[in-house]
Amino acid sequence: MSKDIIIENTKMDYSKDRPKAKKPVKVMDLTLRDGHQSLFATRGRTEDMIPVAELMDEVGFWALETWGGATFDTMHRFLNEDPWERIRTLKKYAKKTPFSMLLRAQNLVGYRNYADDVAEAFVDRAAANGMDVFRTFDALNDYRNFETVVKGIKKAGKHFQGCICYSMTEPRMGGDVYNLDYYVVKAKELEAMGADSICVKDMAGLMAPYDAFALFKALKQAVKAPLHLHSHFTSGMAPMTHLKAIEAGVDIVDTCMSPYAYRTSHPAVEPMVMALLGTNRDTGFDINLLARINEIFEKEIVPKYRHLLADNKMSIIDINVLLHQTPGGMLSNLVNQLREMDALDKIDQVYAELPRVRKDLGQIPLVTPTSQIVGTQTVNNVLFDEGEERYKMITGQVKDLCFGLYGKTAVPINPEVQKKALKGYPRGEEPITCRPAEVLEPELEKAQEEVKDLARDLDDELIYALYPVTGKRFLKWKYGLEEVPPEVKPRTLEEAKAEKELIEKAKAGKLVEKKEKAIPAMENLRKFNVLVDGEYFAVEVDAPGGSPRISSVSQYAPAPAPVPQPPPTPVEVAKPAASKPAAVTVDDNGGTPLVAPMPGMIVGVEKKEGDHVNQGEAVLVLEAMKMENALGAPISGTITKINLGVGDQVAKNDILCVIAP
Ligand code: CO
Repeated sequence: MSKDIIIENTKMDYSKDRPKAKKPVKVMDLTLRDGHQSLFATRGRTEDMIPVAELMDEVGFWALETWGGATFDTMHRFLNEDPWERIRTLKKYAKKTPFSMLLRAQNLVGYRNYADDVAEAFVDRAAANGMDVFRTFDALNDYRNFETVVKGIKKAGKHFQGCICYSMTEPRMGGDVYNLDYYVVKAKELEAMGADSICVKDMAGLMAPYDAFALFKALKQAVKAPLHLHSHFTSGMAPMTHLKAIEAGVDIVDTCMSPYAYRTSHPAVEPMVMALLGTNRDTGFDINLLARINEIFEKEIVPKYRHLLADNKMSIIDINVLLHQTPGGMLSNLVNQLREMDALDKIDQVYAELPRVRKDLGQIPLVTPTSQIVGTQTVNNVLFDEGEERYKMITGQVKDLCFGLYGKTAVPINPEVQKKALKGYPRGEEPITCRPAEVLEPELEKAQEEVKDLARDLDDELIYALYPVTGKRFLKWKYGLEEVPPEVKPRTLEEAKAEKELIEKAKAGKLVEKKEKAIPAMENLRKFNVLVDGEYFAVEVDAPGGSPRISSVSQYAPAPAPVPQPPPTPVEVAKPAASKPAAVTVDDNGGTPLVAPMPGMIVGVEKKEGDHVNQGEAVLVLEAMKMENALGAPISGTITKINLGVGDQVAKNDILCVIAP
């Protein structure tokens, strides 16, 4: 045990009347922002925060994080909620505890640098609507991107929390870039800017416990401002990291109420309260009150969101984060991108290319939006580079980064890559070195003019200025000029319960399917045998030109399907993708092709050329979107061509084999 933690009282109970600790750890609760952003795709609704807001106000949190990050985007886009209204509503219920927001510096709550006039107006309105703590970060840790917003935060008399994005280039803190010195220098820069507190933002959960100890010891000596740790649980280290940071003297830590904790979210508050009970860093929180809040979340709120939980993995940690020192969300995006391009087999090449691209691009931290920028470029390099030539297809964002539009990178960008990226770049081939927003024209007035018939106040205008397309659509919903689509309407607890009951019935085999609607005439009906988690289903798909329409799903019967089917129409021979010729072509004798219904990888070849097959009999197994699809013969006959093997990638509509009657 470190001498920084002293057990003062071993006989105390949980009650909040226990003696106050000498130096209590302060806690910010993230449940109402980062918690549901991490676990439930930021879909938390204001109406589901109201039932707990008053109780959470009683706990004694240093602040409640209620806004910012992805909430502004998600609320107006997917929830038909006015983001500004959330602050005002929650303030009515939680009157004592300060509210905190995550501000992406000059990116505000969007994904690009906005002009200074928009940034000024945004901070001003956020403060006026009730925001108290502005947790501010920049993806490159370039604090010139803080200048405009910090001026606004200070002018409004609010708390400016400056963040240092925690990043690394090797398995432990150190190396040439992100070493102790780097963080100390950054913390001093923030203090010089007037930071009221300094946060180390470990968005990927990369910080190891003993690195945290060394880091906060060093920062405590370097700066006077209170120190705050934000560490995601993703890799599983965060609770240990918290404890070591507390031993090193960190002032404030971030947690979630337990139903919103762990996985890619944050450590839970309850175990930490108990771990510190009776010590000189006791939080003083009433564990019974926390339990009451949890019960409301568990019974009345979480059931509505459970279906949004991103994965059904047994493990709640992502060891890939430990292996690659890369944010978990970024890794899953890479996998999705590769999958869409039918190139999942290249994932190891992507893992190898990623550190090279990141180094070329100046060893930038990996956080929104730089994680996407580095990730997509890596995928492009792996898929499109040929021979000696690298960076054959450079994304627009990489060009912007090379131009200096995001700010200064941790180390200089590889000059060769920079030169190639800026060839013919519209803003100029010579990169800028000034504060990025200085090259941006004012944009607020133009935005105001564009929505003058729709917006009623500056808050409305800002929704449009930040998100022109979805913002405008939201304002139309708000003022009843356009009907609100059903998918943005809230889901009730009753609906969630009914769905859960249905699933349980189905699992118990008690569900009887009832056809309610007449099945439309289908001319292009095709049958797939789909394997899901070891169970076969027969799926009938009608594809009259557009995307396939699923007409029926039934448990697989090994015998030929008893339902009479219209005769299959030979599928039109689709043009193969330009980059990759289809593996099989239809020869002059005709024959009916079996085409790939979706991009994917061949994982099984059940027949060989010359084999006779019956209609519907499985010929190939295609893996796509985590599902194995047994592809059946479109007609009965003899297989004339099949030149694909296990492991081959196919694009949608590629001809896989040909069957002659
Ligand atoms: Co976070």
